[in-house]
Amino acid sequence: MRCEQVRDYGVVVCDGSLPDLQDVLPMTSSGSLRALALTTPTVDRLYGDVLRRWLGRTGLDAIVDVMPLTEHTKTMEAALRVSAAAQRHGLGRRDVIVAFGGGVCSDVASVAASLTRRGIGHITIPTTLVGQVDAGIGLKGGVNFEGSKNYLGCFSPPQLALINPAYLRSLPARELRCGTAEIMKMALIRERALFDVLGENGVTLIGSGFSEPPDVARYVIARSVRLMLEELRPNSYEDQTLQRLVDFGHTFSATLEERSGYRLRHGEAVAIDMALSCELATRLDILDAREHDEILWSFKTLGLPISSPLMTLEAAYHAMDVTAAHRGGSLNLVVPPTIGEGMFIVDASEVHGGLLQASIDHLRSEAGHGPFPVSAVQRER
Ligand SMILES: NC(=O)c1ccc[n+]([C@@H]2O[C@H](COP(=O)([O-])OP(=O)(O)OC[C@H]3O[C@@H](n4cnc5c(N)ncnc54)[C@H](O)[C@@H]3O)[C@@H](O)[C@H]2O)c1
Ligand SMILES: [Zn+2]
Repeated sequence: MRCEQVRDYGVVVCDGSLPDLQDVLPMTSSGSLRALALTTPTVDRLYGDVLRRWLGRTGLDAIVDVMPLTEHTKTMEAALRVSAAAQRHGLGRRDVIVAFGGGVCSDVASVAASLTRRGIGHITIPTTLVGQVDAGIGLKGGVNFEGSKNYLGCFSPPQLALINPAYLRSLPARELRCGTAEIMKMALIRERALFDVLGENGVTLIGSGFSEPPDVARYVIARSVRLMLEELRPNSYEDQTLQRLVDFGHTFSATLEERSGYRLRHGEAVAIDMALSCELATRLDILDAREHDEILWSFKTLGLPISSPLMTLEAAYHAMDVTAAHRGGSLNLVVPPTIGEGMFIVDASEVHGGLLQASIDHLRSEAGHGPFPVSAVQRER
């Protein structure tokens, strides 16, 4: 027996407003579908009217469920509450859950959709930058479990992702920086030109809620989305290889998030992880010191953190252990040999304690300094 399931889904970058669903998702034209839209109080306050008007235009028999969802409540209980709402509203196999919110909302909605009737469709309309370039456009859903981030989850592609950069105007700067960290991830492993555009415009983009300069904002989001989808496509279910370039910045980060009690935002932990990975790469003669300085300088300029008191040698070892368990026993640490390319440090034995400690210490002292090149700083192995 051989089981296969090929799924297509569209990711549409919109120009200020959401398109009619019938225009981008032809299967809904029969008008027989029901929808449960999941959103959170903040997003409901800001854009609840927009959501309800759009749902009205879809012709779907829709209800809106507003649920407080944070990293602390991103749990199985939340996903089950969404499934219970789907059951009350009578959702059938052809019906959909719509996630209208940040990455936490889409992660929970995705898990709920994958469980409800063994899998119903879901549509994502991400309202955060992290959601628009990452969480809302991939196949994965997840909830936190027994202290482990995203320990329970699913591969459940959306039927459609609608990316409307206009929602980012109300997003706090801290959240915009988190999304910028995920864009930086794509730039560093895939495209030097995107890194340069971020370097030139990142501060303005963050300062303006990704509305200025408008063409650059749209370009940066669309380009990051495209690069992410190109990475996901050949290995969508992570069954071809456990070496994934998009895991750059995602080796130490989950441990930091967990140990901060989720006070550290996902994007912040990713930035700290990327900085450490680059520092290790430089000390291992993989990444040129000048390029490394360029990366650190851009992080500092954009206000991305490069170190944390939680980033200790013990935490790094713990993170490497749990990550290797997740990656079939290999560390598969992603590092850029140059800005715009990625490669893997496969074996954890290459990252020994002295190297880790020196890297952690150096980044900690660097974090205290302003954004300037540090090529003069002596790096010891
Ligand atoms: N499934 C995946 O592939 C994937 C990828 C990346 C991240 N994630 C997950 O996504 C989560 C992080 O997502 P996030 O950064 O979007 O966090 P989030 O969902 O917690 O949203 C961040 C904050 O922004 C607020 N908000 C949302 N939209 C807003 C808007 N337009 N204006 C003002 N405020 C708004 C929310 O109320 C919340 O307080 C993490 O749990 C992470 O693990 C998943
Ligand atoms: Zn991430």
